[in-house]
Amino acid sequence: MSRFNESRLKNSDKAILSVIGLGYVGLVTAAGFGLKGHKVIGVDVDEEKIEGLCNGLSPLYEEGLDEAIKNMDFTATKDYQAVLDTNITFLCVNTPSHSDGSMNLTYLKKATEQLAEALRQKNASHLVVVRSTVTPGTTEEVIVPILRDSGDPEICVNPEFLREGKALHDFMNPSRIVIGDGDGKSGDLLQELYRDFGCPILRTDLNTAEMIKYASNAFLATKISFINEIGNICKKMGIDVYEVTRGMGHDERIGNQFLNAGIGFGGSCLPKDLKGIVARAREVGYEPRILNEVLGLNEEQPLKMVELLKKHIPLLKGKVIGVLGLAFKPDTDDIRDSKAIAIVEGLLEEGAQVRAYDPKAMPNFKKYYPHIDYKSPEEVLKSDATLILTEWDEFKNLDYTNRVIIDGRRILNARKARIYEGICW
Ligand SMILES: NC(=O)c1ccc[n+]([C@@H]2O[C@H](COP(=O)([O-])OP(=O)(O)OC[C@H]3O[C@@H](n4cnc5c(N)ncnc54)[C@H](O)[C@@H]3O)[C@@H](O)[C@H]2O)c1
Repeated sequence: MSRFNESRLKNSDKAILSVIGLGYVGLVTAAGFGLKGHKVIGVDVDEEKIEGLCNGLSPLYEEGLDEAIKNMDFTATKDYQAVLDTNITFLCVNTPSHSDGSMNLTYLKKATEQLAEALRQKNASHLVVVRSTVTPGTTEEVIVPILRDSGDPEICVNPEFLREGKALHDFMNPSRIVIGDGDGKSGDLLQELYRDFGCPILRTDLNTAEMIKYASNAFLATKISFINEIGNICKKMGIDVYEVTRGMGHDERIGNQFLNAGIGFGGSCLPKDLKGIVARAREVGYEPRILNEVLGLNEEQPLKMVELLKKHIPLLKGKVIGVLGLAFKPDTDDIRDSKAIAIVEGLLEEGAQVRAYDPKAMPNFKKYYPHIDYKSPEEVLKSDATLILTEWDEFKNLDYTNRVIIDGRRILNARKARIYEGICW
């Protein structure tokens, strides 16, 4: 039995939760529990974000998020004292990488310290849920000691598996929920909170829950680099890798997802998490081989787009090169570790003039690349050649006739171009 009064959750059917860190994971967690009828208090250090949220403006683009936030019982604040009105706190702050790939825990430690300070004033029990992605051992070795002298809250690890672009949908329809705790009991209340999500709930210890997240992302990243490698071989042999994967995917041991050969994986999670687990493996005396190669292949893959372009335009200096797609994947404005960055860098190094379009990610890209041209997709297609870097739906219906297209994302209609090259087909 949990130390919590379980009937409180059952009877009122409404919990009061706090979420610390209102980025992709925090806001989606807040909105998801809001959609389930719970009251949520969000805490963040970013004043602009808080101000926007107080005026009903979501700081990021995710389908359904704006509406959910507007319609739920949600308060956003900078004040950690607000957690005292809640019984459960989700820690969702960013855990970026150091340059050697190891995890930079500065933000998470700071947030945990601020939470601990607030919780010292609380007499009743409290559950702290680590939802940020942290390498195995972090909760036990770093989070638990910080929280120990703050009323000794119960502590769980509850990794998030969302896909950006479908984040709220994934939160509401999870494939599984993993709850790790140190005593086999602290997770009871959290399990209760998730009781009507209609998916398996796995209870583990803290380290295992942390490892499940890394192993899942490492496997997905491996699948992508694997199929890109097969695609690179196919390209040399004049074989269409998409026909090959169609023939592979029917085997349910393989499955047909994450087998889209292309320019590689980006985003805030797969590259960072892979580097994180490689660094953690080294700390415990193991040099990973597969995972290192997965990362290496993923660094090289986007550069193939520039190589293919140079087959058709050997001297890029002064040429106008179009780029369709800047976000690391469709349906998001997120450009963190987007492969478009490496490709735009490559084009600029060759002296090309870059003309770009993305339905959502141009404002974010502009912050780092204010000097390239941002145009409509039709204007972009008038460039000397155009590279397709994100598989946005709206790129499927553009008029590609008479154009020179290098396709990194398999947009079938683009095959109507005068000159067409696919990266792995
Ligand atoms: N983005 C994803 O798709 C995804 C998926 C699964 C897991 N994760 C993991 O979840 C965590 C959060 O990722 P994200 O993409 O939401 O990050 P994010 O950068 O979008 O958001 C983090 C938020 O935390 C806030 N913050 C930083 N320090 C704080 C503090 N001391 N107190 C309060 N707020 C603070 C920041 O201002 C920011 O709003 C990371 O560990 C990440 O690896 C991310």
